[in-house]
Amino acid sequence: MSQPLAPICVIGAGTMGRGIAQVALASGHPVCLVDPDAAQLDAARTEITARLSRKDPTAPALVEEHLATLAELTDTPADRRTVVVEAIVERLDVKQKVLRRAADHFGASCVLATNTSSLSVTAIAAGVPDPSRVVGMHFFNPVPVMKLVEVVRGLQTSDEVVEIIADLAVRWGKSVAHVRSAPGFIVNRVARAFYGESLRLVEERAATTETIDELMRSGGGFRMGPFELMDLIGNDVNFAVTQTVWASYNYDPRFSPSLIQSELVAAGRFGRKTGRGYYEYGETIERTLPPAAAVKAEAAARTTPVVLHGSDDQLETLLTRSGLGFSRKEADTPRIEFVGLGSATITRGGSAREESALRGEPVLLLDRCLDPTTATALALASTDAPLTDAVVALLDRAGVRAFPIADVPGLVVARVLSMIANEAWETAHHGIATPDDIDTAMLLGTNYPMGPFAWSARWSTRSTLELLDALWSSYHDPRYRASHALRSAALTPPPGNRG
Ligand code: NAI
Repeated sequence: MSQPLAPICVIGAGTMGRGIAQVALASGHPVCLVDPDAAQLDAARTEITARLSRKDPTAPALVEEHLATLAELTDTPADRRTVVVEAIVERLDVKQKVLRRAADHFGASCVLATNTSSLSVTAIAAGVPDPSRVVGMHFFNPVPVMKLVEVVRGLQTSDEVVEIIADLAVRWGKSVAHVRSAPGFIVNRVARAFYGESLRLVEERAATTETIDELMRSGGGFRMGPFELMDLIGNDVNFAVTQTVWASYNYDPRFSPSLIQSELVAAGRFGRKTGRGYYEYGETIERTLPPAAAVKAEAAARTTPVVLHGSDDQLETLLTRSGLGFSRKEADTPRIEFVGLGSATITRGGSAREESALRGEPVLLLDRCLDPTTATALALASTDAPLTDAVVALLDRAGVRAFPIADVPGLVVARVLSMIANEAWETAHHGIATPDDIDTAMLLGTNYPMGPFAWSARWSTRSTLELLDALWSSYHDPRYRASHALRSAALTPPPGNRG
């Protein structure tokens, strides 16, 4: 006969606690939900019953039978197999006190999981008699929908406890990313670059928030751009997480908060919830897409010969999509030559002005996109108007809207994604999580279109490194220092090509 499922004691019946209780119930566990606030317990029971009933008409009976809602932890059955999942207020002293009481009540062998998103699991565990029983079980909101659980190992967490919680998460239909207790774990650390680098671009007046959002969606493959996402999360919340991660990493400039965002917060422009953040919200306010560069009739009609030098998947795909005839020439540095006008090439992190000076001809830099077969918007920076007109006309034929932006190093998608990839490499380099776990976490915890390691492999670790080194040369800001792990990977010849 199989063992009955372990009882689950969820402490805290707020947004997260009720979601955790729901997934545990749906997997057949008996659940005690504990919260001193009776109104929260009532609301949680009603919400859980309603949500489970959408899929299963027998849910009310199941909830009645398996869910106990209690104001006092000590009123729950003291079963020593209990797995405790704590989802209360984000305060170290309060979490330690509650977990100590749980350990007293359920006994030394119970597992104590915390859903903390920003506190150290090691520090929480230090306040409990047996720290080896404490582990992070970091869910994402909304719990029943989001597939990821970060299983966080504190310094003293035992292997057995990590395994119990990882198995439990999988049984509850989640995917697990293992991570050592370190500020921001995986997702809240690596995602900082998505927001922070986009904010840098706005600070430098490279492009508007609307244009950056559109480029990240239609060129980068993200479901939402960084600014609309910050408005959705709440600028107050997003800014607070950035500040915590920045302070926790001893004010590393890779995480430094933006003055643009702090000013929004100071003004009370938190985003959707206050009706205004980077954008305005309201029933009568319509969001329109930012205007792309207009296609000039004479440029569309011109039949300038086009030559593809070298080989590059993005350039070749865009040419093929445009339907324009082109010839090919061997070359080390790929570019599209518009004969008599100049060349278009993909950004390597330098400015168009620098590349033009190097080449001795007008140069237009194209941003990278995630997938050149599907991209519908691209940023560009150019030194020459007729060359820009020719490229805008070509992109239009390819179904891609062109967005000329300021001549900033790395443009938009290439720059932001390289910074995300760099953070991912650094996280792996410090042994916080493996590349596979980091890719899983970013795919499922943030809905990124690809994991950062998968991007850097697609673009090549060499070009990711080249772009970061060029950013460093431009700014001499330590936030652009490339991870040593990325540098090693980029400079290591692939197996079978070692000399
Ligand atoms: P919440 O404010 O919605 O709910 C917290 C609940 O805990 C309240 O019902 C409160 O009455 C209860 N509570 C407070 N002290 C208690 C105690 N001593 N014993 C029992 N219950 C107590 O908070 P939310 O958003 O559910 O967050 C809970 C935890 O989950 C926090 O640690 C937070 O950092 C973490 N988290 C939150 C996420 C989110 O998106 N809201 C995402 C991932 C983690």
